[in-house]
Amino acid sequence: MKKITIIGAGRVGETTAQILAEKELCREIALFDVREDVPEGIALDILQTAPFFEFDCLLEGSNDPRIMRDSELVIVTAGFPRKPGMSRTDVLESNVRIIDEVTDHIVTHAPDAMVLIVSNPVDTLTYRVAQRTGWSRQRVFGQAGVLDASRMASFIAQETGFSARDVTTLVLGGHGDTMVPVTRFCTINGIPVTHFLSEERIHAIVERTRKGGAEILALRKNSSAYDAPGAAVAAMVDAISNNRRRILPCVALLDGEYGETDLAMGVPCILSEHGIESIVDLDLNPSERADFLRSAAAVREDIARLGDIH
Ligand code: LAC
Repeated sequence: MKKITIIGAGRVGETTAQILAEKELCREIALFDVREDVPEGIALDILQTAPFFEFDCLLEGSNDPRIMRDSELVIVTAGFPRKPGMSRTDVLESNVRIIDEVTDHIVTHAPDAMVLIVSNPVDTLTYRVAQRTGWSRQRVFGQAGVLDASRMASFIAQETGFSARDVTTLVLGGHGDTMVPVTRFCTINGIPVTHFLSEERIHAIVERTRKGGAEILALRKNSSAYDAPGAAVAAMVDAISNNRRRILPCVALLDGEYGETDLAMGVPCILSEHGIESIVDLDLNPSERADFLRSAAAVREDIARLGDIH
């Protein structure tokens, strides 16, 4: 890709910019933030790591939304993070207002871009951006499942002592406590994880995955996670930029898949230079299906609250 804009130069935005630059996933990164001077400062700081990481990616920051012109991809990380004890839903109202404004900038200045939403509550905000732009689901989607699956994979690697690179996990549903880690699809180099871990241990890992973001927030105290979230966004950008057609869990607008419509939540998608090419509609067993429905209901509750926010 030639140009990517990151909206919101907070910790997730900054970490994402650094990884995209290091991996040379595009030629140019624009950082947009409303805080005066901050995006310029961050862009300069990252640019000055170029001699160490040997990248030729250009970075610039601005408070002027025109900076996003000609972007092929806009990554939205702007918004209030939650404080310890808050759920992702608690930041819904304040973040909807920010995301609406950001969406209008994107429509005006980067009308051909794909949009990758990272801000929370990500399922609901992805839905909101899709509604407000009227753009196809192919080019409006969100990041959550890649992060949740990487958390689960790290826990399994820690618990078994095997290499994290051999662990494959799948997490569906909304990015909240009701998310659905599907252990039936979790393997270590193709071998079901149940071969190595007891039901009880797997259950504990599922629960820890569901609360993975809150665990880090409680420990870091003044910040949500950003290292793994930045890496998760970069993995999605890599799939797009290199047209890999990876199957990754993305927050996608459902149109009949999994029996749902008019809803955005995490499902496995084929991600390529065209954005979301299609959704992989899995046959869930009754208990997975029940968990999925519970998660869908939780996201729907948030989406219903959107009607009251103007
Ligand atoms: C997390 C927050 C950022 O999962 O959603 O860490």
